[in-house]
Amino acid sequence: MGGVMIAPSILGCDQGRLAVESRRLQESGADMIHLDVMDGVFVPVLTVGSGVAGAVCDAVEIPVDAHLMVSRPAALIDDFAGAGCRYITVHVEVAPHLDRLLRKIRAAGCLAGAAVNPATPLDFIRWTAPALDLVLIMTVNPGYGGQEHMSHLHPKVTMARELLDAHGGGGALVAVDGGVNDTNSGDLVRAGADVLVSGSFITASDDPAGAIRELR
Ligand code: DX5
Ligand code: ZN
Repeated sequence: MGGVMIAPSILGCDQGRLAVESRRLQESGADMIHLDVMDGVFVPVLTVGSGVAGAVCDAVEIPVDAHLMVSRPAALIDDFAGAGCRYITVHVEVAPHLDRLLRKIRAAGCLAGAAVNPATPLDFIRWTAPALDLVLIMTVNPGYGGQEHMSHLHPKVTMARELLDAHGGGGALVAVDGGVNDTNSGDLVRAGADVLVSGSFITASDDPAGAIRELR
């Protein structure tokens, strides 16, 4: 595998054309589509469900990661798996039975991700490392696109890599989400990021392909 993977978030795209915009991002060189699912409870905003996820998955060949910012993720796994999502990523803060939930995601035929808020310790994932295919380190507090990147969290990216490798999660990807742009992407890759999620930097640009190249 060569180099960092770029996963554009379509949160800031024209919401009436998410499938078309996703296709365009694939053509612009994206490695993955990051779909932000918000329930208005875990975070204040309400976004899309598995119907829109299905439309996005049908429009692209690259994997789609459903980032579930919802307070009851277990009830949604089968729907998002059925929609064709390759990865389903749940927040550890709302998963008292995280290990069971990750195994449920794999049993549904998907790859299992765990998202960790800025304030949340990595200890939440230590003992479930073998059940993980991806860890999503949040570098903003989830809920909105276009927020300022928290660079003091870069050591957490390195720690996540070390922790996964030491506890049987060597195959899991480390992804970073929140305020990722061309001024911090180099540091993030050096810190150990395998996947850079980036929303506004890519989708607010008139040249998404150029923005993706700048991130690499
Ligand atoms: C934050 C979302 C992120 C975010 C990415 O709640 O999970 O995926 O929208 O967008 P930018 O890159 O603009 O922070
Ligand atoms: Zn996200």
